[in-house]
Amino acid sequence: GAAVEADISNLKPGEKMTVEWRGKPVWIVRRTPEQLAELPKNDGQLVDPNSERKPAEQAPEYARNATRSLKPEYLVVVGICTHLGCSPNEKFKPGPQPSLPDDWPGGFFCPCHGSTFDLAGRVFKNKPAPDNLEVPPHMYLSDTKLLIG
Ligand code: FES
Repeated sequence: GAAVEADISNLKPGEKMTVEWRGKPVWIVRRTPEQLAELPKNDGQLVDPNSERKPAEQAPEYARNATRSLKPEYLVVVGICTHLGCSPNEKFKPGPQPSLPDDWPGGFFCPCHGSTFDLAGRVFKNKPAPDNLEVPPHMYLSDTKLLIG
């Protein structure tokens, strides 16, 4: 399939944008320094903190760590739950939010069967989703342009 370009020049810290790639939603999240600092704290609660279980085509080398990204600030993941393909919701701010579980530090929540992912798309243990969200192959064309695919 064709690669797509994403212009991230208007994406503010703590925001998410979506582009379509091969018929799938790809999320680009600009993480704040505070959000990045929280990620390593999740490692012990995750199924696969360094994405070692993923085949290479679903987890580029740069995705096999706590931030799962080329530039720590920007997360690029396919926004499809690895359980049965529902579309997760996001929780980017701490504290309770209606219809989202309280006992999870935030990131992405799948409403279908309750899987939770952190802000690197890494799945928490004891949830139905077996794997982390897919990181699509991507590269930076400039500071504000990403090529996905
Ligand atoms: Fe997401 Fe089942 S489809 S938890």
